[in-house]
Amino acid sequence: MVNIEHVSVEFKGKDHAFKAVNDVSLRIKKGEIFGIVGTSGAGKSTLLRTINLLQKPTSGNIFIDSVNITNFTGSALRSVRHKIGMIFQHFNLIHTKTVYDNIAFPMAISGLKQEEIKNRVLELAKLVGLSDKIRFYPSQLSGGQKQRVGIARALANKPRILLCDEPTSALDLETTNSILDLLKDIHQKTKITTVFITHEMDVIKKICTRVAVMDKGVVVESADAYDIFALPKHPFTKKLVSHTLNLELPKRVFNDVKGVLLKIIYSGEKAEESILSDVIRKFGVDINILHGKIEYINEIPLGILIVNIKNENGAKLDNIIKHLKQRTASVEVFHG
Ligand SMILES: Nc1ncnc2c1ncn2[C@@H]1O[C@H](COP(=O)(O)OP(=O)(O)O)[C@@H](O)[C@H]1O
Ligand SMILES: [Mg+2]
Repeated sequence: MVNIEHVSVEFKGKDHAFKAVNDVSLRIKKGEIFGIVGTSGAGKSTLLRTINLLQKPTSGNIFIDSVNITNFTGSALRSVRHKIGMIFQHFNLIHTKTVYDNIAFPMAISGLKQEEIKNRVLELAKLVGLSDKIRFYPSQLSGGQKQRVGIARALANKPRILLCDEPTSALDLETTNSILDLLKDIHQKTKITTVFITHEMDVIKKICTRVAVMDKGVVVESADAYDIFALPKHPFTKKLVSHTLNLELPKRVFNDVKGVLLKIIYSGEKAEESILSDVIRKFGVDINILHGKIEYINEIPLGILIVNIKNENGAKLDNIIKHLKQRTASVEVFHG
């Protein structure tokens, strides 16, 4: 659907050039919600903006439905953009226009008839839950309501692709959840191909099916969202994941603990008790659970355990780890 092939974006400073996006290749499939996560300054917005050519790549190509749009200009570019909606962190509404006129704006530009515009605005206002606010101005709305207007406006021309540039980063947790629920609901109804960028793994966890992790202009890792959380490979991804899963233990645990700490990841449908009690019985060891939780990655359960196996090392410990590995997604010695 959207193919980003070897795209780089270089900004020229006074004395040096700077690559905000460095040779990124991604394939975003029709109908999926694809996440791009990374810390501030990673190049996420710049990369996202190459998809509708708000930012022209310095090199590389953008394909939409196998058509290379990289050098499109004029009416060809306009018709591509027509099919791509975009929402922003700070909503980017027109403050002097009502909710109705903000949503109507892209349709007026496209030259739709007043009657058509009216029907569509009312339909969209209903979809985003703002039917009773269409005569309000943005200054009279909460952050969440402003973003709902932003979403309705982005969908006005029935786009096939929705670009989301940190749409929940200016919102509190509860409002974030309601906006994510709305986007999921819209996605379920329309199957619109969605690219979602964020600096928060928690947001990825709730909405994305696949993820690319970006650091310093480079995509360091991309995989199914579940695998990114269960089995992160790149050190940067590991750091992001461990931070968001909140697996930190008090320092004294590491000092006091006898034996080894293991981090066990398992499919959340498997009960941890049976896995552990089986090991206790089979190997005659003591196991303490120090941390245990089930996370939901795009509604699929993922179990995480930090356990302490006392007084074991060498071959027996290796055998225990081997045994656990056969029954779980991953087992590794945990250093915090
Ligand atoms: N128009 C621009 N001119 C010069 N530098 C820019 C421009 N846009 C972004 N940058 C720089 O590119 C880097 C990546 O920015 P951005 O894509 O906004 O990152 P992110 O969205 O991940 O926070 C930053 O260092 C930023 O300062
Ligand atoms: Mg950004």
